[in-house]
Amino acid sequence: MIRKYLRSVPSVAAALVALHASAQVPTTQTAVVQTRNGGPEVLELQSVPVLEPGPGQILISVHAAAVNPVDWRMREGYSGRPQPGRRPPPSSPPVRIPGFDAAGTIAALGPGVTGLSVGDAVFAMIGLIRVDGLNGGYSEYVVAPANRSLPLPDGFTFAEAAGLGTVGLAAARILIPVDIQPGQRVFVNGIAGGVGSSAAQMAKALGAVVIGTASARHHEYLESIGVDQIVDYTQVNFEDVVEPVDVYVETVSVEFATRGLKIIKPGGAIASVVGVPAPELCQQAEVDCPELGPPDAQPEAGAMSEPELLAHVRQLAQEGSYRVNVDRTFPLAEAGAAQEYNREGHTTGKVILIVRE
Ligand SMILES: NC(=O)c1ccc[n+]([C@@H]2O[C@H](COP(=O)([O-])OP(=O)(O)OC[C@H]3O[C@@H](n4cnc5c(N)ncnc54)[C@H](OP(=O)(O)O)[C@@H]3O)[C@@H](O)[C@H]2O)c1
Repeated sequence: MIRKYLRSVPSVAAALVALHASAQVPTTQTAVVQTRNGGPEVLELQSVPVLEPGPGQILISVHAAAVNPVDWRMREGYSGRPQPGRRPPPSSPPVRIPGFDAAGTIAALGPGVTGLSVGDAVFAMIGLIRVDGLNGGYSEYVVAPANRSLPLPDGFTFAEAAGLGTVGLAAARILIPVDIQPGQRVFVNGIAGGVGSSAAQMAKALGAVVIGTASARHHEYLESIGVDQIVDYTQVNFEDVVEPVDVYVETVSVEFATRGLKIIKPGGAIASVVGVPAPELCQQAEVDCPELGPPDAQPEAGAMSEPELLAHVRQLAQEGSYRVNVDRTFPLAEAGAAQEYNREGHTTGKVILIVRE
């Protein structure tokens, strides 16, 4: 009897901690709500309910949230012209809380969640998991899937960790299938951006020679992450100055990827987050152009799932081979300005909203 009581003490204590912490969670919170499709003026600070985490979900008290291009595209109702090979945008109601990436501390655990505790510092990829209410990173509290919520890597601030998910996972998703080998030449178009700088660091960690395009303002940062050759695309066309490469990474547009076929060795590959050239062009150039499926699609046999990819990204960050550069931070109330700054398209790394200091 006594033994049974003692065995249950840690779980009782944990339950009490969880109860205490969840008792401090308010029922309402301040969040940035996209009230309709349009410009930054459609983003409003509103008081909205705090959702309870469902099975397999956690509630995060948000300290920082990342701004991604998908946020202002969804705000505009995805008016961008479709590109061949580009995945369709996620469907989402126009009234929503933006933000797919957040970092903070766990405020409550949903049923069945193990391996995480209330109070843990985590970063998460939120996704469109709650259709029953407003839920997104631009808020004081967000519900996230437990299997896409991971402890902050050592030495990471909340702002840096908030910038790990979407871009790190996108870079890992496109690079793993092309299987970069030490010594191979990897070219990254748009190497200073969120996806580009992630791909550059991952390729360097695999022992590749990394080349990429960026305007002059980013050169010091790119040298600091070990980029071997930087091409200022405002001065020259990359295809005129870059020696043949094994892997071409595209982060800007499919038109560039088509130009990129000129600098890829026969037998090489394109890894793109913005679409691949027409199959006949890839065939002609003897280049492998794998298409990126929707982010939440079931992985093909043998491919890594999203939670596995995210764990891979965290591991790289934990080992010190992948850092997030925070270009600029904005307070939550200035989410519209933050999206417009990101929309200009010239950030070095990530734009981050600070929700709690
Ligand atoms: N499919 C997916 O799962 C997925 C995931 C994440 C992102 N994406 C997409 O990938 C794209 C990039 O995202 P991101 O987060 O990396 O964007 P970002 O952080 O805003 O980066 C933009 C970068 O592009 C560079 N750039 C702009 N025009 C350029 C040009 N003509 N040539 C070379 N570089 C140029 C900019 O550098 P300069 O200042 O030098 O111009 C800037 O560093 C977006 O379209 C995004 O929606 C897709």
